[in-house]
Amino acid sequence: MDLNLKVNENGGMTIGNLDVGEIADGYGTPLYLVDEERIRNNYKRVFNAFTKYYEKFRILYACKANTNLSVMRILEEEGSSIDAVSPGEVYTSLKAGFTPERILFTGNNVKDDELKFVDRQNVLINLDSISQLERLAKIVDPENYRISFRVNPMVGAGHHEHCITGGVMSKFGIKEEEAPNVYKKAVDLGFKPVGMHSHIGSGILDPKPFKLATNALLDVAGNVASKVDLDFEFLDLGGGLGIPYTPDEKLLDIDRFAEEITGIFKTKTKEYGLGDPYLYIEPGRYLVGDASVLLTRVNTIKNSYRKFVGVDAGFNTLLRPAMYGSYHHVVVVNRARDEEVERVDVAGNICESGDLFARDRILPKVEEGDLLAILNAGAYSFSMASQYNSRPRPAEVLVNNGKIELIRERETYEDLFNGQIVPKRLQK
Ligand code: LLP
Repeated sequence: MDLNLKVNENGGMTIGNLDVGEIADGYGTPLYLVDEERIRNNYKRVFNAFTKYYEKFRILYACKANTNLSVMRILEEEGSSIDAVSPGEVYTSLKAGFTPERILFTGNNVKDDELKFVDRQNVLINLDSISQLERLAKIVDPENYRISFRVNPMVGAGHHEHCITGGVMSKFGIKEEEAPNVYKKAVDLGFKPVGMHSHIGSGILDPKPFKLATNALLDVAGNVASKVDLDFEFLDLGGGLGIPYTPDEKLLDIDRFAEEITGIFKTKTKEYGLGDPYLYIEPGRYLVGDASVLLTRVNTIKNSYRKFVGVDAGFNTLLRPAMYGSYHHVVVVNRARDEEVERVDVAGNICESGDLFARDRILPKVEEGDLLAILNAGAYSFSMASQYNSRPRPAEVLVNNGKIELIRERETYEDLFNGQIVPKRLQK
């Protein structure tokens, strides 16, 4: 079981000595429950693993995974930096207290206004295309202006086709073989390239593709450095570290992983005479994924052609199962000690057939009123939530040191109209 959820003697569950059922009663459902200690421990585990082998190391939290300000504050306090992929994420990161030097902006298909905005915040821009380079040259004074580039290392991996970001089908980064010319062009324009970045995909539990990509990125960096007069301050390997979602997936051995990746990094930086640049990684899921659960209550048991357990959340609350067919473990909070006896489909409250949290899941005998916890709901969960079907988004609470704090209010029906304007002629 993830985070600090424990089964108690009555067959219910607690988190940090708080009764999960009481939390759900107090704040209502659906509810995201975030465990602060787990986020801090996840951060420390990665940081300690890598710095054991290579000191010049930075974690850039990929905040798209979870942009809740309190979550970001926790990671800021731990010392994290930020991978931001939109001006909105840059803005959010600044609001969360990250200084501009701790933010790297890696956008895709970024328009001029957005480049201008990021430039005004003094945040380093990691360029994703030659087009962006040429446009940036017209927006800023390129003389000694620090930039970096995302390259496509021709290695891709991920838990779903949509989450693979390297290789010939990928829209991200510049082509490997173009890299020397692109860096040269940047230098000729007056820019000061200081880094190189790649990100191969998301939800990867196998170290192999990461090792291949590290080799590939270092080879490209070595090639560029041999042809263009520059010094790399950092080489950024991106994110993608997976977490186990199904009971039989295994945890990534982070210490071994760090040893292997830093090993390649050190060998190759030496081989190519790249000095000792910072090694950056950009985990999102690994830091926050297993630190939250989604609490949702069963309101309908339907014995149709299949047995459906109907709950008060839907794919507007947690999209991953509907979007990627992702597995999220489901626990019946108030029957945590009961035997798993029946096969059910756990269905949401959205009017689409794809709105299922689980198909053919074996659970204890569930009744209306039972409370379910959907595990590993910390990454790409609230951040991908919507108001589809005019369902307000849920509340979020933070558990820390046996205390609970509301960190996001539940939306109201009025929130459904935020920003809408009905022209006078249509008003009633
Ligand atoms: N860096 C860049 C440039 C990225 O695009 C991403 C994720 C990351 C880092 C962090 O990847 P992570 O460590 O979290 O795997 N919505 C999908 C995941 C999409 C990830 C997109 N990019 C999901 O729910 O699985």
